[in-house]
Amino acid sequence: MKIRIAPLTCIAFLITWTILFQPAHLAAQSSLNDSQIRDKATSLLRQMTVEEKVAQLAQLPGMDIPDSSENEKRPLQEILKQNGAGSILWISDPKEINRLQHVAVEQSRLHIPVLFGLDVIHGYHTIFPAPIAMASSWDPKMVEEAQAVAAQEARAAGIQWTFAPMVDIARDARWGRMVEGAGEDPYLGSAIARAQVLGFQGKQPAAPDHVLACAKHFAGYGAADGGRDYDSSYIPEEQMWNTYLVPFKAAVDAGVGSLMSAYMDLNDVPATGNRWLLHDVLRDTWHFQGFVVSDAFAVHSLMIHGYARDPQDAAHKAFTAGLNMDMASGTYLKYLPIELQQKHISMPQIDAAVLPILETKFRMGLFEHPYVDESRLEPTLNDPAHQQLARSAAQRSIVLLRNQGGLLPLDKNSQSIHSIAVIGPLAEAQADLLSMWGAMTKPAPTVSILQGIQAKAGSAMHVEFAHGPNIRRDNPSPFEDIAMISAVVQEQPAQSQPQRQQSIDDAVALARRSDLSILVLGELDLMSGEYASRSSLKLSGGQEELLEAVSALGKPVVLVLVNGRPLDISWASDHVPAILEAWYPGSQGGNAVADILFGDASPSAHLPVSWPRNSGQLPLYYNHNLTQNPETEPDFHSRYQDLSSLPLYPFGYGLTYTTFAFDNLKVTPTGRVDGAKIEVSVDVTNTGARPGDEVVQLYIHQRAGSASRPIRQLKGFEKVTLASGSKRTVHFTLGKDELQFWSPTVKTWVVEPEQFDVWVGEDSKAPLHSEFQLTN
Ligand code: BGC
Repeated sequence: MKIRIAPLTCIAFLITWTILFQPAHLAAQSSLNDSQIRDKATSLLRQMTVEEKVAQLAQLPGMDIPDSSENEKRPLQEILKQNGAGSILWISDPKEINRLQHVAVEQSRLHIPVLFGLDVIHGYHTIFPAPIAMASSWDPKMVEEAQAVAAQEARAAGIQWTFAPMVDIARDARWGRMVEGAGEDPYLGSAIARAQVLGFQGKQPAAPDHVLACAKHFAGYGAADGGRDYDSSYIPEEQMWNTYLVPFKAAVDAGVGSLMSAYMDLNDVPATGNRWLLHDVLRDTWHFQGFVVSDAFAVHSLMIHGYARDPQDAAHKAFTAGLNMDMASGTYLKYLPIELQQKHISMPQIDAAVLPILETKFRMGLFEHPYVDESRLEPTLNDPAHQQLARSAAQRSIVLLRNQGGLLPLDKNSQSIHSIAVIGPLAEAQADLLSMWGAMTKPAPTVSILQGIQAKAGSAMHVEFAHGPNIRRDNPSPFEDIAMISAVVQEQPAQSQPQRQQSIDDAVALARRSDLSILVLGELDLMSGEYASRSSLKLSGGQEELLEAVSALGKPVVLVLVNGRPLDISWASDHVPAILEAWYPGSQGGNAVADILFGDASPSAHLPVSWPRNSGQLPLYYNHNLTQNPETEPDFHSRYQDLSSLPLYPFGYGLTYTTFAFDNLKVTPTGRVDGAKIEVSVDVTNTGARPGDEVVQLYIHQRAGSASRPIRQLKGFEKVTLASGSKRTVHFTLGKDELQFWSPTVKTWVVEPEQFDVWVGEDSKAPLHSEFQLTN
């Protein structure tokens, strides 16, 4: 069926003319205002056939994909020529992007450019620390700068849309995708979400050198049953509003141009077909004006979920729920025209879905500048300032968990340490410092931790390396089959038991003849991320054995962790004097770790998650409710009979090379419940001998009300730099945004006239306390 709505008009001719003769070197940026954009998009829409409209609702896969989809097997250029396409994903090569864009713009009837999307999650070429690491910096400004560089590099390669930020709250470290988000807390998560949206998009998605952002995965993906990726989430409405939706709302308020629907069932309705999420919350309540893309194949998967009876029903359910674009499954392309013909959906519904996609393309200047100037790519990627930023971002993201006896920082001129053994299966790793998405683009050469230490030690110290046992996933990751990833990922071959023992013995022998050992242990990149949930958080593949054997020598040991989630380091935290959490630190990871180890930079990061003792404690989060047997009671032991129920390290925790004192906490409430403003101030003093950064954190607790409230909730933070001995007064204001919550008894947002506690300090256990009363 081919319905022609209108013949080509003069406007289309003008568009064509502009496209064909525009100077390719100009940075993409629209010169149109919002009402001109709406007019242009509406006028273009009027000229489109049904097939051309539906094509805008499709995102075509730019690489080979499994057959369990509805995609046509024709070459992309033929599909583009016929009706165009809304978007193409999984292509990172600017030449190929330009080639396909030329087909869409010059050979399709209406010359509508394609939006090219890719997972530029924490860098395109310069890879920044993984998102959980950047969240550990508690430094939104740095995060914004890093994602602005990621956007600049991606845009120089022709990518106009990134599938980031991932803003899923994650409270269960078994879930592999904890690495991609900002951890467990909605307040910190919102600050990091906002920073990422601004970094990617600039002031608006049309800003030059920026990309359209996509907040994902809407919503509740992090609460998968048992931490098993893709499993159903069951989240009561009050938790949705107070916790899981909060960072999405922050992203929407920051102007995010698109959202991605999640894979899993939310309360028995798959997120991709969930009208409550996509329509009632997103459009009706938040007034979101952009568009929503599904996660990959998720429209087609509605059938596999047992929610849709066949692919047409899947297209119907996703479309009528409010999903604009079908990522990679081909289901919309094939079935929406049939749905329309059978009058199950209407033309105004189709138009409403297409309009924000066309508007986005106009807003981003794609009609004016559809092509990428390939000559700008190399100079952009090779800008030395990008690597510099990656190094300081990594320094600011590494958490010092333990430093007994002040073992760190190491002194190059030490009288007792002349030789260092660098040991472990991640010590010479490069791609593994990037995490899975970092490996998917065009990563710059990575500095391994071994290289970083060697460069830093120079001739002052003797550095030797032993690999220790190889580590591997127990079952393979499906991402190993993706060419872009397998080209970069470095697999460690399987070992027999005698080979593994030999590798441990060799490492212990090296440690024995060295003055100090630095063990670099953790998870390979594909051991965290999508399809990478774990039932156990233990250091796998003989790493724990290696650590204990080296520690048994009685010489100083530093443990550096490279991983995407908290691991079970209970033994280490009792026996290993110094522990650094490096996460996946990115391209400059090795240099940044060495900077911290040798004191050229001081650690300043704090945990964005509560660190569990083992996986039996999961899910674990600091902002849980009180019970009739609170942890604060003097006779409280544990909620388990065999393990403390408290985390190994609390949310917000992190050490540095100096110490800070907090005092003079002042709380001044003004106004009544409506329009209340609570001014909070505290003095922070650097009481140690070195300069350092402190993350000043403010927590509140509402003592009574229409619902039980969490024992503590983060409601303010600021990262401050203080010279030794200096003092600074830090100010916070608590207003409606901080005091309100969605009450399950009144089914709406409330600020209640109740008594509140306030704590300020360096983590979620901060003892410095005050209180205030809100009055009617
Ligand atoms: C992931 C998304 C990602 C998409 C496109 C999916 O498997 O869940 O986070 O953006 O693939 O690569």
